[in-house]
Amino acid sequence: MSSTVPIPLPVPSRNEPRILFITPEVFPLCKTGGLGDVSASLPAALRALRMDVRLLIPGYPQVLTGLKPKRKVAVFEHLKYFPPCVLRAAKLPVNDSSSIPVFIIDCPELYSREGGPYQDPAGQDWPDNAWRFGLLGKIGAILGSDASPLKWQPHIVHCNDWQSGLTPAYLHFHPGRKAASVMTIHNLAFQGNFPPENVARLGLPASSYDMHGIEFHGRMSFLKAGLYYAEHITTVSPNYAREIQSEPLGFGLQGLLSARREQLTGIINGIDETLWNPARDPYIVSHYSHTDLSAKAINKRVLQETMALALDDTVPLFAAISRITHQKGFDLLQQVAPQLVKIPVQLVILGSGNAEMEKSLTALAQAYPGKIAVHIGYTEALSHLIEAGADCFLMPSRFEPCGLNQMYSQQYGTLPLVHATGGLVDTVVDCTPATLNDGSATGFVFHLMTAEQLLATIRRAVELFKDTATWRTLQQNGMAKDFSWRISAAAYRRIYRMLA
Ligand code: ADP
Ligand code: GLC
Repeated sequence: MSSTVPIPLPVPSRNEPRILFITPEVFPLCKTGGLGDVSASLPAALRALRMDVRLLIPGYPQVLTGLKPKRKVAVFEHLKYFPPCVLRAAKLPVNDSSSIPVFIIDCPELYSREGGPYQDPAGQDWPDNAWRFGLLGKIGAILGSDASPLKWQPHIVHCNDWQSGLTPAYLHFHPGRKAASVMTIHNLAFQGNFPPENVARLGLPASSYDMHGIEFHGRMSFLKAGLYYAEHITTVSPNYAREIQSEPLGFGLQGLLSARREQLTGIINGIDETLWNPARDPYIVSHYSHTDLSAKAINKRVLQETMALALDDTVPLFAAISRITHQKGFDLLQQVAPQLVKIPVQLVILGSGNAEMEKSLTALAQAYPGKIAVHIGYTEALSHLIEAGADCFLMPSRFEPCGLNQMYSQQYGTLPLVHATGGLVDTVVDCTPATLNDGSATGFVFHLMTAEQLLATIRRAVELFKDTATWRTLQQNGMAKDFSWRISAAAYRRIYRMLA
């Protein structure tokens, strides 16, 4: 684990390419999943490499109230196809040693409303999402071209997921000088597909609505626009980069992605070790490190108290923190739960998402009080306590482009138990005699997405839990691993340098 002493940020070097990092969410202002974490921690890591990185984000209410002071840096009064908006600049404190310059698109008509970034309070997609994120793409393209009103000009626009997918398309059709674009796929399942009429209504040329362009099964696709027009594509793990070039994980885009494989790079996400570090985590009661794990037990007790589980330090405590969706495999977890409580193990779930699944998980907790505890909602503080207090972290994801919690878990001495998919394959080493022997074992991996395999693997973990010395070895192996951005930020820098 890297040093925890705050180091003042070096001034950006003039010799490095300047980057505009375009994202629909960023921690701590607005986060629905891992993209929020990465949008803060990767730019911070690039800043530490002396790169001049600035963010572009929509001005949701929590962004406008959370970032102070702000300067007005440009006004876009007559953007065809979009309501008028103001561009403001501020600094986002990412952790106690860095802050990142941010441009905020202040457009009350599109962003000033109660609810999430993508959905209304009832969980329905905002009907004008094509404009909410079309504007993000449009402003990104303006700032990345000679049409920009700003003095600061990026060499690279770095787009993230479908919400910023139109930037490369707008730039492609811009006749003047422009930045090169990188499109990062955090999740290919979310594509931003809209009716074909939107092509004209968003100011894109009719010629772009083509199989070789932004057309996708009779719709216009924001993500495909990015994947088609960006100079380079990245995704968040090497294994996912391979998986998306064929069925089923290509989600219909496998042809395009394999045709562009020379411009497709898988780079594993890192984690912000200043925020996810059991030796100094402000959300946990009792700190510990890989040289002395004894205090972890105190966190387990606090977690059991907090979640009204039986106070028992001998029972293995399993946990999951996640968006509750089909992707994350909660249906399997639900199927095995009645057997789990008999093994016995305890189970803590923190999550929110699909309303039906939320209900059935809540029913499980009611059926097994003291053994299964479910918290529906989004709670940063509880997520840290769970990472610190649990023994084993479950990720039975059907697919997982990278996944962050399996890395947080390893840093917290909480052994991950994962399905062999995406970034989970790249970051968790299954415990076998060979991996125990060479010191690489850090968790448990199962290969078939079935309830039987999940249950069998949980049983395998519970057996190993009885062998305290070996369990401790696995914890220490995981805690000693380097999940920082050091190597991955340098990999992004290589791509930026190549394109600039
Ligand atoms: P994804 O981006 O697919 O949701 P990741 O594993 O990359 O999955 O990242 C999920 C992030 O969101 C992690 O930081 C995790 O702790 C956090 N998270 C997910 N659900 C919740 C929740 N209900 N409460 C707090 N944090 C959550
Ligand atoms: C996505 C993926 C997740 C990844 C995250 C950050 O939401 O589902 O696996 O870790 O983006 O890249």
